Amino acid sequence: MAEAKTAKVTVKGKEYDLPLLSPTVGPDAIDIRKLYGEADVFTFDPGFTSTASCESTITYIDGDKGELWYRGYPIEQLAANSNYLETCYLLLYGELPSREQMADFHKRVTRHTMVHEQMHNFFRGFRRDAHPMATMVGVVGAMSAFYHDSVDINDPWQREVASIRMIAKLPTIAAMAYKYSMGQPFVYPRNDLDYASNFLRMCFAVPTEDYVVSPVLSKAMDRIMMLHADHEQNASTSTVRLAGSSGANPFACVAAGIACLWGPAHGGANQACLEMLREIGTVDRIPEFIKRAKDKDDSFRLMGFGHRVYKNFDPRAKVMKESADEVLALLGVDDNETLQVAKELERIALEDEYFVEKKLYPNVDFYSGIILEAMGFPTSMFTPIFAISRTVGWVAQWKEMLADPQNKIGRPRQLYVGALRRDYLAISKR
Ligand code: ACO
Repeated sequence: MAEAKTAKVTVKGKEYDLPLLSPTVGPDAIDIRKLYGEADVFTFDPGFTSTASCESTITYIDGDKGELWYRGYPIEQLAANSNYLETCYLLLYGELPSREQMADFHKRVTRHTMVHEQMHNFFRGFRRDAHPMATMVGVVGAMSAFYHDSVDINDPWQREVASIRMIAKLPTIAAMAYKYSMGQPFVYPRNDLDYASNFLRMCFAVPTEDYVVSPVLSKAMDRIMMLHADHEQNASTSTVRLAGSSGANPFACVAAGIACLWGPAHGGANQACLEMLREIGTVDRIPEFIKRAKDKDDSFRLMGFGHRVYKNFDPRAKVMKESADEVLALLGVDDNETLQVAKELERIALEDEYFVEKKLYPNVDFYSGIILEAMGFPTSMFTPIFAISRTVGWVAQWKEMLADPQNKIGRPRQLYVGALRRDYLAISKR
């Protein structure tokens, strides 16, 4: 019989045997759940750099090799052969669908693309110049006020309907946020179009002129969505899980995920990256910015570079770079100055000792902004597009968490370094 694997920890002279849990692939994890109860110590891990918060079967990343799998399938194979909706099915249900399953899933998603008409009034409460992410956080949170029949998390049918509603309606909501910020009328979804084409049309059509979606742009958008669909326990996904661990309804949980995604260290990096490339402007200014990124006294970082998990090329960035070339060639902008700056910046950084030593490689955001800008999106829409794409990941992870018998409310502990107990002093005596 194989010996059970354990890790030994010595606390104040006493030894404790802790179970060592083995994943399908990847490093083992020390199970510390009983440590506090038995040894009266916490573990300390700000940023969760060494802590696995849950078991999951959805996505696997090997940061050293630069690999990403959805349910075991490498992202490059999915990007080459699959499409976003099929990937959604895979993430949600664990297997690639049969033809019948795909047709049924497609029908269910496309039949939910419209939003409640009253939601139009809700949009009108926002300032016209609101950032589309601000609008999305509010509107997605408000979905729980519009769809009462799918907020009971204990009912599997309601969980399923809420999941489909979010995947189907997020593109509509993001497009509406965009139209509102532009002062243009909302464009209703069209169910005869595929998921990506429908989104592009809702953004760019106007009542006076339809928008005929180019298949190359639609494919590029579909690919951007696929590449962003899930990424294991990143900040926004962990936010969704933490919110969901208290039993909050799924719309509220996804709204929390959108809020987290907005930050420039996470989903906001694609906007920040394009703004940085524009600020650099010309290839000859690159050394100045590289110098700043390396300067300890300067807070400037090369946006679109570095990743908590990838210490090698982000596999998504490779696919994205190919897409950028395709899209710019189609649009006849392959001499695009921003792309030249990006390519040269990547070349220089990959040879620079600082970036090589710290294993800082381009991440998915490095090229996505260039594609989205070429399609006609303003930078403020980059993160909303990430949010649309990641919704399926958030939903799949939320459902997995609810089905997990080990699930309990997330409640980290702390290392208190504040004042010791002291007595209140009246204001006149302070
Ligand atoms: N430019 C310059 N230096 C960097 C960069 C960068 N982009 N990223 C990390 N470093 C340096 C840090 O200064 C640090 O140096 P030190 O060890 O001398 O102090 C070292 O590399 C490690 O960096 P950390 O911040 O500790 O790494 P962490 O894993 O916490 O951060 C993060 C990862 C947030 C992505 C970081 O690399 C970053 O800020 N990148 C730019 C923003 C970005 O592109 N975010 C998108 C992430 S992908 C996504 O969300 C889809």
